[in-house]
Amino acid sequence: MVKNVKGEKSRRKYIPNIANFKFKPKEYWSLTEAKARYENLTDSPNNVDQIFFEDCKAGMEKITDRSVDLVIADPPFGIDFSGKENSYNRKQDLVIDSYREIKSDYGQFTEDWMGQIQRIMKPQATAYVFSGWNHLEDVLRAARLAKLTTINHLIWKYQFGVFTKNKYVTSHYHVLFLAKNKNDYYFNKMEHYPLDILDFKRKYKKGEVKNATTLPIELIQHCIEFSSKPGDTVFDPFMGMATTAVAAKSLWRHYLGFEYNTNLKRVVEKRVEAVSVGQDYISKEEKLRQIYSIAKDKYPSAYEYLKKAGGEINAKS
Ligand SMILES: C[S@@+](CC[C@H](N)C(=O)[O-])C[C@H]1O[C@@H](n2cnc3c(N)ncnc32)[C@H](O)[C@@H]1O
Repeated sequence: MVKNVKGEKSRRKYIPNIANFKFKPKEYWSLTEAKARYENLTDSPNNVDQIFFEDCKAGMEKITDRSVDLVIADPPFGIDFSGKENSYNRKQDLVIDSYREIKSDYGQFTEDWMGQIQRIMKPQATAYVFSGWNHLEDVLRAARLAKLTTINHLIWKYQFGVFTKNKYVTSHYHVLFLAKNKNDYYFNKMEHYPLDILDFKRKYKKGEVKNATTLPIELIQHCIEFSSKPGDTVFDPFMGMATTAVAAKSLWRHYLGFEYNTNLKRVVEKRVEAVSVGQDYISKEEKLRQIYSIAKDKYPSAYEYLKKAGGEINAKS
């Protein structure tokens, strides 16, 4: 209750969605601050900005305990998948061969790498683990055994381009958001109302070489922005086409990871090289303007109310 000029109590009118216009991320850095954080490498015991073409299980043993800030892991599907199939609706000669699949015990394989992940994560670190529904049980079990807590069960909404006759079309992928310490993990809320459904499309340039499983960069950038700071190290045990490396580099973060398939080395190195450090990082002022402009399009009645109530508010840092 608030009092008007006559001292009478009046109920303040509730206008839905106003908060969307005034929202600011918990933390945000100017371009200069982000660059300075990136260039200050004193905190990292690892030789960062590298992708090692070897088995991640053996490779991770060389990584220092509690040394990475964020993990993005998109493991092999554990289905009979060669990486060259038609399901992604693309020209086969542009798809790189020798995707490595797990033919043995997927549960044991997952327990092995998940345990290592937990060890190398800093105390406040989190992990985004991608999984199809076929092995979700194994992934959830391995996370529990590794003492990682599921904070959110996100869904990546995506149509894989398959057609079904007698069942629903699979149009999602699971993304587990896991924390090492459920009471103290880094989370920079970047939107007022961040849903657990992630809706990002795969974008392919005509004629571009790729691996059949490449994730959208925007999807990984989203995870990186919510769960790390500029200068942090983002680790990926299953780099594939190095989407994590590209996304991290484009946002002033360092990357580190493994990929078993040596056929990918040349194309991956070219892909990472083509990205300039910090190229997709948006300044704090621009970010606030974006938040405001998205809210303006999404909530026109709240915007009209704000305009009448005192002119258009400016998004200020
Ligand atoms: C689903 S794909 C990752 C795709 C990646 N997120 C991207 O956007 O390009 C999984 C990758 O893990 C690799 N892989 C399989 N077993 C591995 C292992 N033991 N160590 C390292 N990489 C492995 C596969 O060759 C494949 O490239």
